[in-house]
Amino acid sequence: MAVGIFDSGLGGLTVWDAVHKRLPDMPLVYLGDNAHTPYGVRDADDIYDLTTAGVARLFDAGCDLVILACNTASAAALRRMQERWVPQGKRVLGVFVPLIEALTERQWGDNSPPREVAVSNVALFATPATVASRAFQRELAFRAIGVDVEAQACGGVVDAIEEGDMILAEALVRSHVDALRRKMPHPQAAVLGCTHYPLVEAVFRDALGPDVSVYSQPDLVAASLADYLGRHPDKLGQGEEAVFLTTGDPKRVSSRATQFLRREIAFQPA
Ligand code: DGL
Repeated sequence: MAVGIFDSGLGGLTVWDAVHKRLPDMPLVYLGDNAHTPYGVRDADDIYDLTTAGVARLFDAGCDLVILACNTASAAALRRMQERWVPQGKRVLGVFVPLIEALTERQWGDNSPPREVAVSNVALFATPATVASRAFQRELAFRAIGVDVEAQACGGVVDAIEEGDMILAEALVRSHVDALRRKMPHPQAAVLGCTHYPLVEAVFRDALGPDVSVYSQPDLVAASLADYLGRHPDKLGQGEEAVFLTTGDPKRVSSRATQFLRREIAFQPA
C-alpha cells in the first residue's frame, strides 16, 4: 500500500515529513532526482522527460499514487502527464491545488465558480520555471477573482539548499523578499511555491514580517492526501516497503537529508 513522493531533489522531503507525521503507518517511497536538480532552470520538455522517468520508477516500486512534491514539475509537466501519459489505474497529484484551496478558503475539491476572497495582494516565491509557467495564477483564477499576484523567481535558492549552503540560501531569500517588496510593498499573503523553501521558512517569515500570512505546502499537502486516500482507498499501491531512492550520490544525499530532517535517512540508488 505504498504511496510515492517525487521531487527534483531534497525539497520533497518537507512533504515526506508532513505526510509521515500525518499517516505514520503508510509506507512511502521517496524519489529525489538529485542527479538532475535543479529543475527550476530547465525548459518544460526537459522537466517533463525527467519527471515522467522518475514517476515511472515509483510506479515500478509498487506505487499507484504519486505525489509530485515539486512545484516546478507540477507547473511544467503535470497537466501534460495527466492528459496523455499516466497509465490506467495510476494517479499523479501535484502540490499546487491544496495550497490554492487553502488560500481561497475552499474545501478540498470545491469546484464552484471563482469568487472574491479575503486576500487581494499575494506574493508568490517560486523557481524561475514555476514563475514562467504562470500555473499558479491559472489555478488561482479558477477559484478566486480580484487577486493581484506578484511573482518572484528565486534564482539560486534551490542550488544553495541542495549544496547545504544555508548561509547563502538565507542571503538569497532576503534579497528575493526585498526584490518582491519593490514590486509589491504590502502583500497580505506570501506563498512558498517550492518544496525546498520550507527548509528556510523561518527566514522568509522573518524577512516578510508579522503582517504577512505565509502559506507553506507540507501540512496542506499531507492533509489533502489523507482526505484523498479516505475517498480513494483503491489508490493504495501494492508496495510494502518504505524506501528513499535517489538518482544522485546516495551517501551525499543521505547526509544532507539527515541534516535537514534531523533524523537518520538512508538513500539507495534509484
Ligand atoms: N522542490 C522543487 C519545487 O518545488 C524545486 C525545483 C528545482 O529543482 O528547481 O519547485
